Amino acid sequence: MRYIFGNWKMYLNEEESVRLAREVGELSVAPGFSCAVFPNTLSFLPVRDVLRNSSFSVGAQNVSWVPRGAYTGATSAELFRESGAAYALVGHSERRYIFGEDDSAVRKKIEACIDVGLVPVVCVGEEKHDRDNGKAEYRVKKQLMKVFEGLSIGTQSVIVAYEPIWAIGTGDACSDTEAARMIGVIKEYVAPYHSGEIPVLYGGSVDAQNVHTYLSHGIIDGVLIGKASTDVTIFEKIVTEHT
Ligand code: 13P
Repeated sequence: MRYIFGNWKMYLNEEESVRLAREVGELSVAPGFSCAVFPNTLSFLPVRDVLRNSSFSVGAQNVSWVPRGAYTGATSAELFRESGAAYALVGHSERRYIFGEDDSAVRKKIEACIDVGLVPVVCVGEEKHDRDNGKAEYRVKKQLMKVFEGLSIGTQSVIVAYEPIWAIGTGDACSDTEAARMIGVIKEYVAPYHSGEIPVLYGGSVDAQNVHTYLSHGIIDGVLIGKASTDVTIFEKIVTEHT
């Protein structure tokens, strides 16, 4: 299975999200590909309704690890799962760096997803200074170690997304060969934690021009697209020409 995921971040309001979902829902996805969009929490339910009979699943951009209770402002993995989410982004760099989410929170969110059968899409990636100092692999392995060590995954699916921070929203996409190399490193690192293979996606300035370079590498199991996934003309090209 290969994956094309669109993370709509907080780019769209409810009306815009529903409009985009209607257009996206018309797209056909080739067998062997799994496609999903991740609307903001407010737009999650109407987008889910629009995409109900389409080839697209809907995911959560963020979940809280506590299931229910007195947790003001939280929306749990359990609530998202009950409302039809198939996936949840966990540990996106915007959550880590802007909202101060640490590795232990990321770990608890992964466990919460696994508990309720939501597939966590665990985001990891190095900063520019890590890369410049030859520490990209070290940084990513450290993130993986903190979230995977001792984790009981069982047969539940987990996906990892390699999203180098310097490549997100900058137009400075990681080269396909380097993304493939880093994804090889990630796969080798996470292999002992799962009986099957953990798919690893690439994310960071993916667009209609460069997407084929990533998908031409068998080792890259798909792409996690931000800005370009909110433009239906671009997203249509990506989905219809590459699945
Ligand atoms: P861009 O595709 O806008 O660089 O964002 C990538 C990303 O953060 C997806 O989660």
